[in-house]
This record gives sequence, C-alpha cells and structure tokens, in this order.
Amino acid sequence: MCRFTTNIPEAASFLQTGLLVAFPTETVYGLGADAQNCQAVARIFEVKGRPTFDPLIVHIAAAEQMFQVVTDFPKIAMELAARFWPGPLTLVLPKRPEIPDLVTAGLPGVGIRIPDHPVALALLKQANCPVAAPSANKFGRISPTTAEHVAEGLGEEIPLILDGGPCRVGVESTVISLMSERPTLLRPGGCPAEEIEKVTGPLERATPNPALEDSAQPAPGMLSRHYAPRTPLWLVPVGKVAEPFPGARCGLLSAGDQRSRTGFSQIELLSSDGDLRTSAANFFAALRRLDAAGLDAIIAHQFPNFGLGLALNDRLRRAAAGSGEPVKFQPSQDSIFVP
Ligand code: TXA
Ligand code: MG
Repeated sequence: MCRFTTNIPEAASFLQTGLLVAFPTETVYGLGADAQNCQAVARIFEVKGRPTFDPLIVHIAAAEQMFQVVTDFPKIAMELAARFWPGPLTLVLPKRPEIPDLVTAGLPGVGIRIPDHPVALALLKQANCPVAAPSANKFGRISPTTAEHVAEGLGEEIPLILDGGPCRVGVESTVISLMSERPTLLRPGGCPAEEIEKVTGPLERATPNPALEDSAQPAPGMLSRHYAPRTPLWLVPVGKVAEPFPGARCGLLSAGDQRSRTGFSQIELLSSDGDLRTSAANFFAALRRLDAAGLDAIIAHQFPNFGLGLALNDRLRRAAAGSGEPVKFQPSQDSIFVP
C-alpha cells in the first residue's frame, strides 16, 4: 500500500533509485519515473495497464535540461517555450538516443514539458533527471487531480504519492508536434490553441480516423475511449436543455446552464458563471463524484468550442464513447446527443 508524503527529497530519492512516485503538476497528477531508466519506465506501463503504443511525456525542471532529452530545439520551439513554459504545453521534438524507445513508443519524437507547479519543479530539480510521467490513473480511466484520486486508482501498486493538494488547471497539457513542417495539434489541453496560434500561426490538426484501430491512429493517444467513468455518459449540445431519462437515476454534469436542474438525482455544477477555467479545474473531480454515486446514467453538457472548452469537449467525447444505446432508458425528446 502506498504512502502519502510532502517530503520532496524523499520523493526525489525514490526516483533516483528507479522507483515510481506520483506527483502533482498544475494539470493533473503524474506517475513519474526516471526517463533514462528503462526498467522504471516499463513499470509505469505495467502499473497503469497502458498499451506500449501510447508514448509518455518527459518532464524537466528548466530549459537547460532540454538537451538531455532532445537533439534539436528549433526557433519555433524556443518561442513557444519562452511564452508558455513552465506551463501546460508539451512539445514533441526529435529524441536523444539516451531516452529509451519505450518512452516514445518507438517514435522518433519525444514529448517534453516544464510543469508550472512549485512541488513538481522542486522534485525535478532534486531528482536531477528527466522524469517520464503519464497521468497517474489506470489506463483509460478518469485522470487524478488530487493525491486521494491517485490512491483510489493506483494505491495498491505504487510506493509513494507526493501530495501537493488539488491541481490548478485540471486538464492535461496541450500536445503540439514540431516533427513536421507545420506545428500540429495532437491533443487539446490546458494551454488554449488560440494562444498557441498567436505564436505559430494556424496549427495543423491531427484528427483521429474512426476506421482505424486505436494502435494505428495517425498520432498515438487518439484513443476513442478514454477518461471514462463506469457509469454510461451522455452528452447534450451547448444551448440544449438537459433532461434526465424517465425512470432512471441520472446525474448532471453542467457548466452552468440554469435551465437544466429538475429531476436529477445529483448535480455537479462546474462553475456558476460558465467560466471555462473554473470548469476545467473542477471537471475530473466532479466526474468522479458522479461516477461514485451509483447512478444509471450521467448526462453532461458540452462546452463552447474555444479556449479550454476544446480540451473539455475532447475529454467528454472520449469519456462518452462506447456508452452505446441506453437500452433501458429512452430519451424523452431530441435533446440527447448520442456520441
Ligand atoms: O498534463 C499532462 O500532460 C500530464 C502531466 C502528468 O504532465 N501528463 C499526461 O500524460 O497527460 P498522458 O500519458 O496521460 O498523455 C500523454 C499523451 C499521449 O497519449 C500522446 O497523446 C501524447 O501525450 N504524446 C506523448 N508523447 C508523444 C510523442 N512522442 N509523440 C506523439 N504524442 C505524444
Ligand atoms: Mg492520461
């Protein structure tokens, strides 16, 4: 069983001896290992139950550490780093041979970022190695934004959780690939795409191909079902009123639509005024509470498609994928959108 700690030197010594440590970042908690230690990295995949075609992000404490991880840092990367690091932006750049292929799932590029969290930065500095870390949850499940969330999912399998309180941003980093001519958005996240485009110009968008298996997607990580609660999840488009299914115990995940309040067994209001940053910060914790409430279904409002809304809609779509037809519960009107 794992232990909680706030002792950064202890957590750093765990990393240095090849052990895993869950640690806070501004986005979500990460499950960290020394990125240069192949066996420690392999243990991450084992503990998470994660397929090895899905690469890990490498975290560093300062830009000077960059060349322990990548071979090239082009001008556009420098501009993005100057503007957004430390912060929720991951850049995919050509990897050094010292970084095991397992970290990048055999790809020539490695994802790298400097997290904007004092505890994460102190840990990375003291460990003095690049740290590979996916979100600290079982593969495909809801990402953790508190130390308690980490313990719920992985407590039996990891030795130590560095507790830094709740995560400020609440959704994972935005992933941009700089491996081809044009910067490409691989995953929307905590750094709004519009802000990035002010630096890069229009981003290419890598879109998942529904005809392909998850392992054959143009970019890894484009898994159709992910971030998933156990309770079936249904989505309602922006502007439509959410209604519970007749005869079912339904929960509502709402960004602040005042009209959709009646008949739900449990309501999680992400923000009182629809603010997307507040919604993102509360999103995964609220989804977990609804999932733990023993409901028949969760109905979630989609978000406007800008700023952090892009990342939230991506998480919602993938959390809902595979929920399928609600055989038992027929929607009472056309307000329910089947993903
Ligand atoms: O905010 C975050 O990014 C958190 C914290 C802990 O830093 N980490 C995180 O890691 O979300 P994870 O493993 O849950 O998601 C990593 C995703 C992969 O699924 C993939 O989409 C993308 O980042 N990625 C990582 N390395 C890549 C690479 N070399 N090439 C392409 N995509 C990559
Ligand atoms: Mg994850």
